[in-house]
Amino acid sequence: MNKVTVNGIDIAYERRGKGTPLMLVHGFPLDSSSWNEVIPSLEDKFDLILPDLRGLGQSTTIESQYTMSDMADDLAGLLDHLGVEKTAIAGHSMGGYVALAFAKKYPDRVSGLGLVSSQAAGDPPERKEGRYKTAADVTEKGVSVVVEAMTPKLSADARVQAFVRGAIEKQSQAGVSGALKAMAEREDLTSLIAAFNFPLVLIHGDADALVPIDRAKEIKAAVPSANFVELKGAGHMPMMEFAKETAAGLSSLSSS
Ligand code: MLT
Repeated sequence: MNKVTVNGIDIAYERRGKGTPLMLVHGFPLDSSSWNEVIPSLEDKFDLILPDLRGLGQSTTIESQYTMSDMADDLAGLLDHLGVEKTAIAGHSMGGYVALAFAKKYPDRVSGLGLVSSQAAGDPPERKEGRYKTAADVTEKGVSVVVEAMTPKLSADARVQAFVRGAIEKQSQAGVSGALKAMAEREDLTSLIAAFNFPLVLIHGDADALVPIDRAKEIKAAVPSANFVELKGAGHMPMMEFAKETAAGLSSLSSS
């Protein structure tokens, strides 16, 4: 992978294809390889920018607590490095929280927004507390805690489970607990989303056991113009479970 240092962190990334810039932001606690199966259907119309978020994949991290907004700054620094002023940005789950933080902070740099298995709502108090408990468990016992808890919830498909298990096992304790704390502290951006003046696509499986499809339905109700791709039978990993349909949904972010 390529690497650039931004905000004191080495951000790893891949760049593939040609066309409208589209940054694909992975979820927790995965890395940019989660998009591998949609790349072939997108690279003929998009300049795909595929970062590993700080602390995950091959990007480094810092020990002090950081936020979704800090991760959005990393992405802005990456775009500066690549000479890309404006981009469509789509995020999977936690990547959607980062994409929303990016759209809040850098609205003029966004040409379209995609939320895949994600939400605009913040965490209710008990979920926030649970994240801090998991972060402490990861620090004490290692990332296997998250491997066992999350793998069955990410997908019912054994092939996808094997992939995510391998991806999570490679993550560092600091990166996993840092992301958990950043998710716990994220803002509720539900009211912001209705004010966006760029295209919005929502891609969500009706069998998502981590972020219920009702979260996407709430956004659709607030933004009737959103392109809502509801995937029957998909869990939390539609880019692997329904790669063609997910790529088709993301294609609506192309400006050509
Ligand atoms: C993710 O898939 O990125 C996370 O599970 C999202 C979350 O826990 O809110």
